Amino acid sequence: MRKILFASSEVHPLMKTGGLADVSASLPLALSQMQQDIRIIMPAYRATLDQLGERALVATIKLEGYQQAIRILQTQLPGSDVIVWLVESAEHFDRDGGPYCDTKGADWADNASRFALFCRAAVAVASNQAGLDWQPEVVHCNDWQTGLIPALLSLQDSRPATVFTIHNMAYQGLFSRQVFEMLNLPDSLWQIEGIEFYGMMSFMKGGLVYADHITSVSPTYAQEICHYEFGYGLEGLLSLRAQQSRLSGIVNGIDTLEWNPQTDKFIDHPFNIKNLRPKSLNKKALQQHFFLPESADTLMFGMISRLVSQKGVDLTIEAIHRLLTEGRDIQLVCLGSGEAGLEQDLRVLRARFPDKVGIQFGYDEALAHKIEAGADAFLMPSRFEPCGLNQMYSLRYGTLPVVRDTGGLADTVVDATEENRKQMLATGFKFAEPTVEDLYGTLLKVNELFTHPRLWRRMMLTAMVQDFSWINSAQAYLHLYEQLVDIS
Ligand code: ADP
Ligand code: GLC
Repeated sequence: MRKILFASSEVHPLMKTGGLADVSASLPLALSQMQQDIRIIMPAYRATLDQLGERALVATIKLEGYQQAIRILQTQLPGSDVIVWLVESAEHFDRDGGPYCDTKGADWADNASRFALFCRAAVAVASNQAGLDWQPEVVHCNDWQTGLIPALLSLQDSRPATVFTIHNMAYQGLFSRQVFEMLNLPDSLWQIEGIEFYGMMSFMKGGLVYADHITSVSPTYAQEICHYEFGYGLEGLLSLRAQQSRLSGIVNGIDTLEWNPQTDKFIDHPFNIKNLRPKSLNKKALQQHFFLPESADTLMFGMISRLVSQKGVDLTIEAIHRLLTEGRDIQLVCLGSGEAGLEQDLRVLRARFPDKVGIQFGYDEALAHKIEAGADAFLMPSRFEPCGLNQMYSLRYGTLPVVRDTGGLADTVVDATEENRKQMLATGFKFAEPTVEDLYGTLLKVNELFTHPRLWRRMMLTAMVQDFSWINSAQAYLHLYEQLVDIS
């Protein structure tokens, strides 16, 4: 049994803005089911505390340079016995808004101090200096918010092994030199082979430079980030780590209990591969929800997304606009929140085609499940996608994903070429370039295949039997932890 401390800035359902939260719950759960002693550490956000009944104060830490003592509260990952430690500091985390942004969507001005404090508290726990009487052998850090953990631990003589997982290179936690000084971090970290990045301080580099091993969330993305287009200036460092066998890609799994069309508590009409019929009732319910005509034969596309450039939402809007202008019999239902410009463009599309396009802005867990269950095809034309979870949820619900051939989308979807379809391997539709032209061409193919119910149904069945459980990937992480502990 290994002792693992898993550090993340969001953990479903305690706090979630995207897939990081899903992974930060389902991976620890899978490892705990494999008899590992894994504990999660995350910030005690106001919204997290508000939803928790039970929590116990288990430690108080006095960190150097901080006036207030930091409290560690203990709870459990809902529905499991996985221990979660919450780092409580009212000044940093007790406020309305999201984990990274205020209620208007602007980054919190003090994000560097908030996550530096979180990292320092995690380091105290990882070094068994918090009075919790528990010493991890491995600390598994996730994304830039945890990047200072490997950096600070590297300064200690005796320390646990460290793994840093990149969920998204596009967010690096870059701050000015003044902020670095204000944080009172050790001067030795400020160097090119440290967290300095073109005159700025990079939290992400703290993970990339100092962790014993780096992983990313799919094999393809782990390769892509070693190149200029996806590396954001860190491709050299990442290539070096790959050559040193210190960077690998492990594809995410999904929580197959939560995302199961047969037992999903959010959908009215459960279904499975032996009984697909109720899926059409979910489609009808979705059409009612969005006030769209209730037509079983209309191809309905679903989209659930952060509305940001990464997700190719602009490509979707234009390609769908083109199909609708041509009078094609399709519908689009979309759930998302994000950039104001994209929200506006979606509103314009809906205003033009009110009986074809349904949109709901904001975050809605239940509706996300209903869209997965009711739509025929799922749109994920991402410009880049480290892993992506929604395409895997879609596959389980027989909602064929339309994806760009990149990152985790490339690794989890098999394109509907004639050859793949004949061999019963095809599970979705892939296109190569992030252009409206390519997406539009693919949507025409989707539309065409949809007119052949037998072929469509066959692909649905192939999609639904794919195994995206955590079994293999959690085993791969465990293997990695064991290797690192053995050599340390
Ligand atoms: P990313 O983490 O880049 O946003 P993923 O596909 O890995 O992309 O994960 C997104 C997760 O967030 C999925 O669980 C998805 O259902 C959920 N999600 C995204 N936007 C919304 C929303 N507006 N309402 C509910 N769930 C959402
Ligand atoms: C990030 C990525 C997404 C990935 C998720 C979980 O948010 O954008 O592709 O699935 O992290 O690893």
